[in-house]
This record gives sequence, structure tokens and C-alpha cells, in this order.
Amino acid sequence: MKIFYKTAEIQEHITALKKKGKSIGFTPTMGALHSGHFELIKRASTENDISICSVYVNPSQFNVASDLEKYPRTLEKDAEGLTANGCDILFAPDNKEIYPNGSDYEVDVDLQGLDLEMEGAKRPGHFAGVVQVVKRLIEITDCDRLYMGQKDFQQFTIIRQMIKSLEMNAKLIVCPIVRDEDGLAKSSRNTRLHPDHRKKANILNRVLVQAKEWLSEGRSPIEITYKAMEYLDIPDFRPEYFDIVDGSTLKKISNTDQVDLIVACTAVWAGEVRLIDNMILKGKL
Ligand code: PAJ
Repeated sequence: MKIFYKTAEIQEHITALKKKGKSIGFTPTMGALHSGHFELIKRASTENDISICSVYVNPSQFNVASDLEKYPRTLEKDAEGLTANGCDILFAPDNKEIYPNGSDYEVDVDLQGLDLEMEGAKRPGHFAGVVQVVKRLIEITDCDRLYMGQKDFQQFTIIRQMIKSLEMNAKLIVCPIVRDEDGLAKSSRNTRLHPDHRKKANILNRVLVQAKEWLSEGRSPIEITYKAMEYLDIPDFRPEYFDIVDGSTLKKISNTDQVDLIVACTAVWAGEVRLIDNMILKGKL
């Protein structure tokens, strides 16, 4: 696996690959890689001639400074995992390689309000930062396919809209959520969970599974949300939202008729750690 730290150098290398007609699959990450990330990397390497992964903790998407500071940084171990999972190129830039003119600007793109719901409402500025960095990384890697996880449902939905709106060439491929054996969705943040909280953290998955059952029994989204918020309210845990949304618009629904894709999305504080998860209750991506 080749490692690049400089934008100009990786671009030169990619230009040469593209001249030879190679297809490129790209997976953006913030590192502290786990099997959820590796599923994306593996798929990118199977479906493309070249698999590229970026490891870059993007400051512009953190709305809380302490979260940025505490974000785990494990580049050496990440590089080993990437090699083992078929990655051809690791891009590990620093801030000036990504934002040579500073990050104090917003990408001009109509996100059709997708950024105002759920995570967007709770983390102001977060998606502006994500859009900014993913756009820049797609441009640098000139990828044919972009690999993202269903784990961050709102994130991939926004990136899909960005690609469409800016008429970018990259095709978005969304990969299923990878979970631990007890159902907790894999996340770089899980390592920060207090052991007692880790034991209880699969409650997010359990309530999502329950919500799917409730919906199939004909209960209303409002009732499901209410009950789910109650179930998630256990000692040391604090549910922020449990929204049942139209998977295309991310708007909350009250009526399930005529909605093809219904998704439950939730965010819950487990002690000091904020966990997010989601599940498709009806339909397919
Ligand atoms: P990060 O949290 O490192 O996630 C990188 C990619 O891995 C995202 O597309 C995310 O949805 C996916 N992923 C994480 N955990 C997963 C799991 N358990 N199952 C399946 N996929 C999973 O998301 C980001 O980084 C950043 O916002 C980024 C897109 C890199 C922009 O900075």
C-alpha cells in the first residue's frame, strides 16, 4: 500500500492511474478504523482497480472542540488494517493540504433541507463541514465510486444530494451497518464508552428492532417514537431523538401510507459519549 500525505503528490499519482484507464473506489474516513470501515474498503477494492482510503479528522465538522481533541488517532494501526483489507492507497493529509486557503467558507449547494433535520438540528454546522471535506476529497481522488456506510444515514443522504446537485461523476455506494455481536453498531467512539455503559449500549439496536416490529403491527410513528424514547431513558443514558422518517426526504412521518422507505434514526448519550444508530423499518435503499 502506498501512503501519501501531500495533495499534489497523490493527485499526480492518480492522474497517471487514470491515464491507464484504472477505476478508482474511494472511502473517506476519520481513522480509528474498525470492521465497519473495512467492509467499505474491501468492497471498494473488489469493485474497482484501485481502492483509496483517506484518514483525516476534519475539524470543520466538529461543533464541539473537546470532541475533536478526543477523537482517537491511530494512523499506524489503521495503515496495517488497510493493507490487510486490500487498500492500495492511503491518503493521510494534514489541515493545510485539505484547506490551503482555510476552511472558512461554505460549499454552495442546495441540500433541500436534508441538513436541517436530526443530526443537523443537534449539531449546527456539522454537515456544512462534512460536505466541504467530502467534496474536496472526491475532487482530489477523482474517484469513480464513493463508499459510505448506512451507519450515518443522514450523512450519505446529504452526500448523495451534493453529488446530484453539483453533477459530480462519483457514484455513491452505501454499505450496510456492521454491528458487534450484541448488536451495538461499530463506531470509533465505542472505545470511549465506560465499561458499564458499553454493556448496556446495545439498547439502541434493541429498541430499533422493537420499533420495526411495532411498525409491522400497525402502530403509528408518533406512538413508536414516544415508546422508544421511554425505553431508551435508562440510568446514565439520555436519548436525544428517535425519529421515524421518510428515508428520501428525512422528514418525520405521521402516516406510513405511500412512503416507500421508512427509517428510524436515533441519537443517545451513553454517559459522555454520543451514539447514533438507525434501522430501515420498511423498504430498501
Ligand atoms: P467515519 O466516522 O470515520 O466513517 C467513515 C465511513 O465509515 C462513513 O461512511 C461511515 O458511515 C462508515 N461507517 C462507520 N461505522 C460503520 C459501521 N458500523 N457500519 C458501516 N459503515 C460504517 O463519517 C465520517 O468518518 C466522516 O464524516 C467523513 C465522511 C470521513 C467526512 O469527514
